[in-house]
Amino acid sequence: MKNNISLLLTSVYLVFGICLLAFCYVLFGNVVSGWFDFSSVPSKTAIQRTKTTPKSEQVVDGIHLETGLVYAEGFDIVRGTCTACHSAKLVTQNRASREGWKQMLTWMQATQGLWELGEQEPIILDYLATHYAPEAIGRRANIDMKEVEWYILNLEEE
Ligand code: HEC
Repeated sequence: MKNNISLLLTSVYLVFGICLLAFCYVLFGNVVSGWFDFSSVPSKTAIQRTKTTPKSEQVVDGIHLETGLVYAEGFDIVRGTCTACHSAKLVTQNRASREGWKQMLTWMQATQGLWELGEQEPIILDYLATHYAPEAIGRRANIDMKEVEWYILNLEEE
């Protein structure tokens, strides 16, 4: 009987001891782990810091990689609006004046279900007319016929 009681006491002490240790660990665990060098294990913040912008969201030479759109003022609105139905390629492949772009938007509104753009329209048009304006590159300018000095090629003389 006496043995049984001491056994019981021992186990009570043991359980109490474990609880005390656990309690101390909760209280001072952080302090204790500070004594050791865990620098080889990257901390949570270090992991967050190494996270970079996903490649597709990167901007290289002013071009947003995923969409191919020029990354400039109005980009977010244009991306949000103009990639909802089709690829941004339809935008980047095209060149037009502000009026030309306005006509394309009107056409899409009339026939393709593009919604009213409201106060975003001038922002979108500014963006398009600035970055996707007609280019002279790849096609020479039309000849101004009045400016040309005509001459008659004479093949018989000489
Ligand atoms: C509601 C859907 C929708 C939205 C939003 C939309 N478009 Fe379109 N767009 C279309 C459809 C449909 C076509 C025709 C696609 C085809 O021909 O394959 C088109 C065609 C085009 C074309 C080609 C026109 C041509 O003459 O070939 C351009 C440029 C264009 N869209 C620009 C834009 C721009 C800029 C925006 C943002 C303001 C925009 N789209 C937003 C539906 C939309």
